[in-house]
Amino acid sequence: MRKKIVAGNWKMNTDIESGVSLAKNIVSNLANELCDCEKIGVAIAPPFTQLYAVAQAVDIEKICLTAQNCAAEAKGAYTGEVSAQMLKAIGCRAVIIGHSERRAYYNETNEILFKKVKLVLENGMKPIFCCGEILAERNENKHFQVIKNQLDEVIFKLSYEDFNNIIIAYEPVWAIGTGLNATQEQAQEIHAYIRSLIAEKYGNEMAENRSILYGGSCNAANAKDLFANKDVDGGLIGGASLKAEDFLKIINSF
Ligand code: 13P
Repeated sequence: MRKKIVAGNWKMNTDIESGVSLAKNIVSNLANELCDCEKIGVAIAPPFTQLYAVAQAVDIEKICLTAQNCAAEAKGAYTGEVSAQMLKAIGCRAVIIGHSERRAYYNETNEILFKKVKLVLENGMKPIFCCGEILAERNENKHFQVIKNQLDEVIFKLSYEDFNNIIIAYEPVWAIGTGLNATQEQAQEIHAYIRSLIAEKYGNEMAENRSILYGGSCNAANAKDLFANKDVDGGLIGGASLKAEDFLKIINSF
């Protein structure tokens, strides 16, 4: 059975004090059955500079410490980069890869994303791989093809064993930070489509076991409806993950 997951992507928000306090507040209010980090029940992705402080302040056996990005190279002369190995060393278990903000503002191509995914896996962590269309693509009815290409060119190049460690997040770009979430039907349609592509490529068992998260203006008010969909296994939450109370409500929406 696949895992239900709620992951908070803090993006470039919080400072050490507020980040540690947010993490502590979330962890201390998590129900015991959600503290199953091995399978990632609840994940938080603070900015790089706060990961270590958060790892020291909370029990990271209870929450999946996640990074928002990592370098596309293993080590060496790459000024300003943070390697997958460094993230693993401070207790991270997952890394968000291919967020649309990275694709759009930092020109991360599918080729770069593939290298990152491989490094995350080689370091024993799980990639949370993001895919999703922009509004113009949806309006032109190209969203299915866009998502298929994003999967084909990155994670569908992985072996069966590697793919077994992938978490997918469908994040329609038009829904991110806009307050305009995908409807229940739109989310279910794409999630079922992604699952069908996985089944085609890796078989039914793999498709049944992969968690596919929804992201894009998911909040305490709409999470219940979105998570009620058969193929929506949780959420990747931006803005609403910055308030412990809202994030906890989302976690309790299954
Ligand atoms: P919002 O929840 O703020 O729309 O952001 C979603 C997101 O980008 C999570 O990665």
